[in-house]
Amino acid sequence: MSGSECCIRGPYFFGKNEGQGYEVLSNAFGVCRRGIDDFDSMFLGSHEVDVLKPDAVQRGHVGEIISRLERKGLKIVGLKMIQVSEEEARALYAVHQGEHFYEPLLRFIRSSPVVVAAVEAKEACAVVRRLLGATNSAEAEPGTIRGDLGLSHRFNLVHASDSPETARKELAIFFRTDEYLTYDRALEGWVYDYSTGEPI
Ligand code: CMP
Repeated sequence: MSGSECCIRGPYFFGKNEGQGYEVLSNAFGVCRRGIDDFDSMFLGSHEVDVLKPDAVQRGHVGEIISRLERKGLKIVGLKMIQVSEEEARALYAVHQGEHFYEPLLRFIRSSPVVVAAVEAKEACAVVRRLLGATNSAEAEPGTIRGDLGLSHRFNLVHASDSPETARKELAIFFRTDEYLTYDRALEGWVYDYSTGEPI
């Protein structure tokens, strides 16, 4: 299908963006698109990667954690279960190389499948880190994910990007550009006030 060609299936409207190779689907709520051109072009500050670690998967907390992100209003734009490779683990934790907990951390993150989520929100990193609580779960405030679900410093359930720059790197570690989804949420206008055009 070329850029100008589209077909209508039921209430949905499909088309293919010429040259880009991604599929565009329009529906009553707006546009859905599979894939983005590159991670560098994404708006810095509104994206974030969360890795639901082996302890979250093994203890059956994936649903609870994803649910807490959704309840807050964060928009999930990529989600998958993977086995982290040695290369991905080293890339994710490169900043901790040389720390006493570095090698055990690499072993831990590869000890079971994990779930990786790409989420969007205004100031996504800061929002998610507040939801998670302190790195050491034993010290995390009740009401936070770690404060409610964990006790350990290392087994602290979720890794979250600590800055927009880190988020962009981590997105590229775990997601191909064609796995990243762009879509309009039906309730978006009730999550933020968009009356000025910007989310407030
Ligand atoms: P995370 O947010 O994934 O970033 C680095 C991880 O290293 C951290 O969560 C913890 O799982 C782990 N970590 C950080 N500091 C320590 C520590 N002092 N002892 C054990 N594990 C740690």
